[in-house]
Amino acid sequence: MTDNSANIIKFPEDFLWGVSASHFQIEGYPTEVERRLSDWSRWTEEEGRILDGSNADRACEFHKRYLDDIELIGELNLKAYRTSLNWAALMPEGPGTVSRERQFAPGVVEYYRDLFSRLKERGIKVFVTLFHFCLPDWLAEEGGWTSPRVADEFETFADLARQHFGDLVDYWMTVNEPMAYIYQGYVAGNWPPGASQDYLGAFVAIRSMLTAHARAYHALKGGEDAVQVSFANHWRPFAPERKWSPLDLMVTHYRERVFNHIFPESIDEGALNIPAPLSGRKEFRALEGEIPGLKKSMDFLAVNYYTRELSRFDLSWPPDLFGTRSKRADYPVNGLGWEAYPEGFYRVLTSDINPYLIDSKGHNRPVFVTENGFATLFSPDLSAGDWSISDRERCDYLISHLVVLKKAIEAGVNIKGYLHWSLTDNFEWSEGLTPRFGLVRVSYEDQARKLRESAELYSKIAAANALETIDR
Ligand code: NOJ
Repeated sequence: MTDNSANIIKFPEDFLWGVSASHFQIEGYPTEVERRLSDWSRWTEEEGRILDGSNADRACEFHKRYLDDIELIGELNLKAYRTSLNWAALMPEGPGTVSRERQFAPGVVEYYRDLFSRLKERGIKVFVTLFHFCLPDWLAEEGGWTSPRVADEFETFADLARQHFGDLVDYWMTVNEPMAYIYQGYVAGNWPPGASQDYLGAFVAIRSMLTAHARAYHALKGGEDAVQVSFANHWRPFAPERKWSPLDLMVTHYRERVFNHIFPESIDEGALNIPAPLSGRKEFRALEGEIPGLKKSMDFLAVNYYTRELSRFDLSWPPDLFGTRSKRADYPVNGLGWEAYPEGFYRVLTSDINPYLIDSKGHNRPVFVTENGFATLFSPDLSAGDWSISDRERCDYLISHLVVLKKAIEAGVNIKGYLHWSLTDNFEWSEGLTPRFGLVRVSYEDQARKLRESAELYSKIAAANALETIDR
C-alpha cells in the first residue's frame, strides 16, 4: 500500500470555496439591453469596440437561468458566490426622477432578492459589488466618474442597496478593480468613456471614486459595525524587464505605486497623495488631500490576482501615467497572453498586501481572494461537441495557485476564502465572448452548460477542503 498522505494539502476548517462573476458579463438583463440603459450596453453597439464583434446582449442569460446556475454552484460543493448589482437597471430613469424619489425599479429588486435568498437557503455566502465597470447611461452622459455629482449618486445607490438587500448580503464591495477601470477608460481608451492618455481625467476619476467609496462604505454599514464592506483590488506583482536597468527599475516602482497601491493606501490614510512627477503639476496637486470618511474604510481585503507584469522604460514615460508593459513571457501564458505565475500570487499574499493587513481597531483584516482564473480562447459560435472540456491548463493553474495560497496561510496570512473567476464562460469586456474563463463551458448559441474537467477538480477540492483527490 502506498501512503499518499504527504500529498494532501488541507485548508483551514472554515475556509470558503466559491466563484465570482459580475452582472453585465453574465446577465443579459432584458430592460437594460433593450433600452441600452448602461454605458457598456451602448459601447458594445459601436463599431470596432469589441475585438470579436460580439456583445453581451444575451451573455449567459443568467437572468433567466440563475436557478439552474445556483444548482450548479451547489453541485460543485461551493459555498460562496460573488456578483454585482445592475445599477443601470435598478436606477434607470436618472437623477430627475429616481434619485429624488430614492427608489429602485420594481422587478429588478425582486430578481436580486430571489437570487440572494436562494443562495442563502443553500448555505452559500453572498458577496456583492456595487460598481463592476458599468454606469447607468444617464450618469455616463453627464461625465460618469468625473461628474461632480457621481459620489452623491453612488451614495444613494449604496443606501438603497442596503435597504433592499442588506439582510441577504454577507460581504459588500463598493467598487471592483478601480485602477484597471481607470486605466482602460482614461488611458488606453478601450472601455467607456473611451478617453485616451487623459491623465488629469484619470486622477479626477480616482478622487471621485475614493469619495464615492467612502460615502458608500458608511451608507452600506448604516451604522452597524458588523456589516462587512471593502473594495476589490487587482494586484499585480511588478518586476523590471531588465533586472539591472535603473530605468526599468524606476518605471517598475512608479507603475506599482500607482496601479497596486493608490487605492488601498489612500483608504488606509484617508487622503489621496499623487505620486511624483505628476504631483509637480498644480492641477494634479489640487486633487490631493483628505477625503471625509475615507480613513480605514475597509473591513477586509478583497484580492483579485491573475498574473504579473514586467515593466519596461520607453520614451513615452514619464508622460505616460503607467509606462509600458513588456510583451516578454518567461512562463506559460493563457489565451490572453497572461503568464501563469503562482510565485507572484504568493508575493502578493505575503508581501504586497502587508501594509494593509491591520484595521482601525488593530485587528487583522480577513483576506478573501475574490478573483483568480485562467482564460482559453474559443469562438462564440461553437455549440455542440467536445471542444474545451478537457482544460488541463486551467487545472494546472488552479492547483499551482492553491498550493501557494495554502503556503501563504501557513506563513500567517489570514486568508478566509477563494472565489474562482468564473463559474461559467462570460463576456470579457473589449475582448468579447471568445476568452473563456469558466469552470463550466457555455455554448452561447443554445446556452448549454457543460462541466469542464476543472469544474470536477474544483468541486472535489471544495468537498474535501483539501487538494487530495486528484484523479487525473
Ligand atoms: C477582472 C475583472 O473584475 C473581471 O470583470 C474580468 O472578467 C476578469 N478580471 C478577467 O479579466
